[in-house]
Amino acid sequence: MIDLDKAGTFAMGSHTVKRIGYGAMQLAGPGVFGPPKDHAGALAVLREAVASGIDHIDTSDFYGPYVTNQLIREALHPYPSNLVIVTKISARRGADGSWIPAFSREELTEAVHSNLRNLGVDVLDVVNLRSMLDIHGPAEGSLEAPLAVLADLQRQGLVRHIGLSNVTRKQVADGRRIAPIVCVQNLYNLAHRDDDALIDELAAAGTAYVPFFPLGGFTPLQSTALSDIAKQLGATPMQVALAWLLRRAPNILLIPGTSSVAHLRENLAAVDLALSADAMAMLDRIG
Ligand SMILES: NC(=O)c1ccc[n+]([C@@H]2O[C@H](COP(=O)([O-])OP(=O)(O)OC[C@H]3O[C@@H](n4cnc5c(N)ncnc54)[C@H](OP(=O)(O)O)[C@@H]3O)[C@@H](O)[C@H]2O)c1
Repeated sequence: MIDLDKAGTFAMGSHTVKRIGYGAMQLAGPGVFGPPKDHAGALAVLREAVASGIDHIDTSDFYGPYVTNQLIREALHPYPSNLVIVTKISARRGADGSWIPAFSREELTEAVHSNLRNLGVDVLDVVNLRSMLDIHGPAEGSLEAPLAVLADLQRQGLVRHIGLSNVTRKQVADGRRIAPIVCVQNLYNLAHRDDDALIDELAAAGTAYVPFFPLGGFTPLQSTALSDIAKQLGATPMQVALAWLLRRAPNILLIPGTSSVAHLRENLAAVDLALSADAMAMLDRIG
């Protein structure tokens, strides 16, 4: 079995997790909408993740909707005491699968209760407020009102820790004045480095940075340099992409997504990959 501890751990508030976890979004149907094409296969991926030592799963009620949370509950409840499930709120899905902002007090409160119900827990470990000011990427604008609602829900004991997703540096700084922020989840990978400065700031502050689309998302990363380095190391490009993120900064927590047990195992083996300074320099140039 791969020793995931080799990659170290990092804290999200009171939860200390291994630096490689699992993102459950790929378990929902096409377009993150509807049931999985292979229900038993989806349960098998989740069970393999935990059996392999993963202690951090990323999800949301808006994947499916409700599908990934219900799969997590079916596969893993009652949960191991060390498992940290991170969810996110502030969107809902239209009947056509569209992503609709859901930022009102009523919608955010219902989203927390719905995540509690679907995951089968009394308290959510970490809830990310996902900015929907622009669905495709961080956009400036105030998140004060929805964050204050989430902080209220935290005070009521329904949410242990709060994170932010799809946000700018200013929104993180402003957010910290409203509630303690334990993690930031933004798009970042070998080819998309907009958050370099933010990652370093968060590292200095001891705050976790959780890149989404670590493998490139719906279209996994493709690069000749990446493939060449992978070949030299006897590894796969996806493993090199994850190993690069692990080396990039100590506060990076990985949540690569997959619907395949074979890919899950391949991704976890990235913790065994040592990248030389030369390989790091070549990979750095991809961005
Ligand atoms: N906060 C946000 O706005 C936001 C947005 C998007 C995602 N997320 C979170 O971030 C997590 C990670 O993102 P993601 O799953 O969308 O993207 P990802 O991890 O970058 O990549 C997933 C894609 O890579 C493929 N893949 C995985 N392992 C592979 C391997 N070893 N070889 C070849 N292909 C491989 C998957 O296909 P297979 O299923 O065939 O393996 C899937 O198509 C999500 O699960 C979700 O929890 C958050």
